[in-house]
Amino acid sequence: MEFNIAVLPGDGIGPEIIDQAKKVIGAVGQKFKHNFNFKHGLVGAIAIDKTGNPLPEETLDLCKSSNAVLFGAIGDPKYDNNPAAKIRPEQGLLALRKELGLYANVRPVSTFPSLIDKSPLKKEIVQGVDIMMIRELTGGIYFGKPQGRSEDGNTAYDSCVYSRYEVERVVKLACEYAMNRSKRITVVDKANVLATSRLWRETAVNVAKEYNELTMDFMFVDNAAMQLIQNPRRFDVIVTENMFGDILSDEASVLTGSLGLLPSASIGHLTSVFEPIHGSYPQAAGKNIANPLGTILSAAMMFDLAFNLKTEADIIRNAVEKSIEADYVTEDLNRTHPKSTSDVGDWIADYVSKS
Ligand code: IPM
Ligand code: MN
Repeated sequence: MEFNIAVLPGDGIGPEIIDQAKKVIGAVGQKFKHNFNFKHGLVGAIAIDKTGNPLPEETLDLCKSSNAVLFGAIGDPKYDNNPAAKIRPEQGLLALRKELGLYANVRPVSTFPSLIDKSPLKKEIVQGVDIMMIRELTGGIYFGKPQGRSEDGNTAYDSCVYSRYEVERVVKLACEYAMNRSKRITVVDKANVLATSRLWRETAVNVAKEYNELTMDFMFVDNAAMQLIQNPRRFDVIVTENMFGDILSDEASVLTGSLGLLPSASIGHLTSVFEPIHGSYPQAAGKNIANPLGTILSAAMMFDLAFNLKTEADIIRNAVEKSIEADYVTEDLNRTHPKSTSDVGDWIADYVSKS
């Protein structure tokens, strides 16, 4: 089969980690006789530097005409330290989500047995954690209008806005995930305070009526933040709004011991974007030390969800597990004898070829 993949390396370590995923995808292509056409596009700070626009029209068109998008990372300290900057790299990512209609961000969080000691939590608490975190991605306070400043500059406002349709489609997707897992789903909100959260609850209850065997429970976000640390195994599928999901998914990600390990998929109606959940890690850029596993596992999610090639996806995941078991890992996972980013990529591509 033949697939067009839009490749958006972005900023910081983005290009290095993307290169490793491309190697692994190439190895899968050779093994299974698929053709993958990689076409590169600019996004983020590098796109601002070159074109003045964090998401150039050309990049957007490329994404729209591709079977899937592989995304590296976005962000640059020169913008983080300048709150007055009018054009920001992150706007590129937000625009991409909006333009491609990426309404759900899916972040699986599960532990690797051989890394259990890397978790900041006790082994007894974290062992066996397997959470599917589903975050609404194109609504809520990230996009609500009005947003801005009063004329005198002394007041600022953001608006949290959700329509019933927006809640319905992401909760439905989450229910489908739950039905293929343990049939349990937790809706996280702040319905004791927020009107949008009350719409979420009402809508979620209605969606759940279509799933007889499903058990849905509700939890306030502050409690959920606590339970994720205290008793993470109580969760299976979590679905929540944009901002809560942003915060909780970062919290959940450290349960496994390294942020560098976690993949994500942002699901759209036309195309989907696959990216590691970590950021651009500018301190490591160009040093060949960043962990490429989150990106390689994102490529595995691409095989699963965008190409419907389950065997290929499993082979990639298995190769990643084997590299961890062999302790062939970057410095975030092995301080004393780390391997480089490209060495890890080579090892995994090679393992895939030989599998
Ligand atoms: C994420 C990131 C983004 C977000 C930033 C870079 C805009 O933190 O993908 O979680 O807040 O959604
Ligand atoms: Mn985030």
